[in-house]
Amino acid sequence: MNTKDKVLSLLVNDKIVSGEKLASLCGVSRAAIWKAVNALRTEGIQIEGTTNGGYRLYDDDIFTQDFFEQTLSKDFPELKGFHSEIFKEIDSTNTYAKKLLSQAGNLRLPDGSLTVAGKKFHNAIICAESQTAGRGRLGRSFISPAKTGVYLSIIYAPQGGIKDPAKITAFSAVAVCRAVKELYGIECQIKWINDIYLNGKKICGILTEGFTDFETGTIESAIIGIGINIRDNPVFEQNNVSQIAGSIEAVLDKKITRCKLAAHIYDNVLKILEEDPATVISEYKKASFLIGKTITVHPIIGDANSTYTAKAIDIDQNASLIVELPDGTTKALSSGEVSLGSGFYRP
Ligand code: BTN
Repeated sequence: MNTKDKVLSLLVNDKIVSGEKLASLCGVSRAAIWKAVNALRTEGIQIEGTTNGGYRLYDDDIFTQDFFEQTLSKDFPELKGFHSEIFKEIDSTNTYAKKLLSQAGNLRLPDGSLTVAGKKFHNAIICAESQTAGRGRLGRSFISPAKTGVYLSIIYAPQGGIKDPAKITAFSAVAVCRAVKELYGIECQIKWINDIYLNGKKICGILTEGFTDFETGTIESAIIGIGINIRDNPVFEQNNVSQIAGSIEAVLDKKITRCKLAAHIYDNVLKILEEDPATVISEYKKASFLIGKTITVHPIIGDANSTYTAKAIDIDQNASLIVELPDGTTKALSSGEVSLGSGFYRP
């Protein structure tokens, strides 16, 4: 670890540390400590000098490349080698991941095994502190302001391709619920197919995008984009989404550190995609708050005439929502959008 990273982790652990102690623990001169502190400040990390020559970290919710890698190697050493990139600001982590994949060339050899590029990008993670053009499902935008959320995309390109694309989004939703439970002990709920709720408000959305090989018809790779609100932001009010959008800190009496949350989501997503599907679906069902409720189905958003009322009765093994229509017949929905009640949907 270089001096800058060491100084940062010492300050994260102790908050105030004297320049002398930092120098001795890092085995460098005080001038080198001063240089490292200034380098950290230029990365946007707020470090204050104390009157007795020490340093104080203002805010330990740090989200830099180095700190993310440190968090990973501490909490999940097995994930350390994977490609990761952390941006202060980006248009969209999903768009960037798409660019990476389109420039990467072939991810697989004819026998299905991964090429060098495939090995590099399978399980890669791209995170951003903010997005200027965050994208949601069905062409919507996803408001992604700085300091109040975690926006990440994971590239999934397993050997042999993707057999069950429909399950990726649903499984990732369960993985986010697990990460939140693991870190903060709170249970989230899922609104089919990809919205995560806490205390009646949406705290997380997932946008999964796939790349198909037209010759073989297989899904080559997927980008799992996850946006999670950690604290309320005034822009929710300005954009009239505060009725719907919530955050974890609004419920939790504790400050969240984004690096830790991103690392735990990352770990849980990678693990869940290798798990027994039946177990994950049953966890998804338990967390799903639509079952037993009357809902409005919006097969094509924007076409008000195509909506209909139904009762959500189950989630099947393909993560499709099973609904019962007023005439008693049932239908399995694998895509589309649903809202609670028989009311009007406002995109
Ligand atoms: C939705 O609720 O409709 C899905 C929202 C998905 C947002 C995430 S944030 C990270 C990734 N990058 C994007 O542009 N979108 C996804």
